[in-house]
Amino acid sequence: MKLVLHNLTKSFATHRVLDGLSGDFGEPRSLALIGPSGGGKSTLLRIIAGLETPDAGTVTLEGEALAFADEEKLRAHRRRLGVVFQAFNLFSHLTALANLTLPLEKVHGLSASEAEHLAREALRRFHLADHAHKKPAQLSGGQQQRVAIARAIAIKPRLLLFDEPTSALDPEMTAEVLEVIEELKDEGRDFLLVTHEMGFARHVADRVAFLADGRIVEHAPAEELFGTPRSPECRDFLARILKY
Ligand SMILES: Nc1ncnc2c1ncn2[C@@H]1O[C@H](COP(=O)(O)OP(=O)(O)O)[C@@H](O)[C@H]1O
Ligand SMILES: [Mg+2]
Repeated sequence: MKLVLHNLTKSFATHRVLDGLSGDFGEPRSLALIGPSGGGKSTLLRIIAGLETPDAGTVTLEGEALAFADEEKLRAHRRRLGVVFQAFNLFSHLTALANLTLPLEKVHGLSASEAEHLAREALRRFHLADHAHKKPAQLSGGQQQRVAIARAIAIKPRLLLFDEPTSALDPEMTAEVLEVIEELKDEGRDFLLVTHEMGFARHVADRVAFLADGRIVEHAPAEELFGTPRSPECRDFLARILKY
């Protein structure tokens, strides 16, 4: 993905969450975003996803500036992304299969049979074929998150965005979901991943950006950022969270 962020600001009431955030990340296949809680990672991801409008600044993806003022273009942008949130965000009254087919029909305009074909293919891909008829409450957390990932990739998006996809999961289910993300990487899918799994970020991300206090404080190839962080903020953050 080719992603350039320029001077983004975003406030909620009087709270400035993004504070002139900029970053030109080059062209990594996978970019991890790390940083302290409340630093603005989710807000940034939602802006890149076209789900939130910045007060000022620009997002350029693959050389194209996001048109925040043009709802039509923004919708087209959203259709080309797959987004996976921390809390799965599945419809609880729908089966796993229907959670995939609904957006394929309503958002992407596929026929019922095309949608079912793509949905079953995506579920099979993540070993969920036997669970297609189950509702989220009948699935484990790891399975629910894999359904959410299957939904995100069903339309073959140009970019996947993950916001702490494992933070609601126990270690075994975390491993299950991280394996799926690694498979997507091996398939050559581009993604942006917000995560607290530092070992995984180091392993799977080409580039890592450290975000704190509404700014990208530094970004570098994964080995470099984790091996020799340059800013005191990032050094402190890593020392604190890698201590235990
Ligand atoms: N819709 C919103 N309304 C008000 N405050 C928000 C909203 N979204 C985020 N915030 C605030 O913005 C700050 C940054 O949040 P967030 O982007 O979720 O950070 P992170 O994902 O790094 O933890 C937090 O203090 C949060 O409470
Ligand atoms: Mg967050």
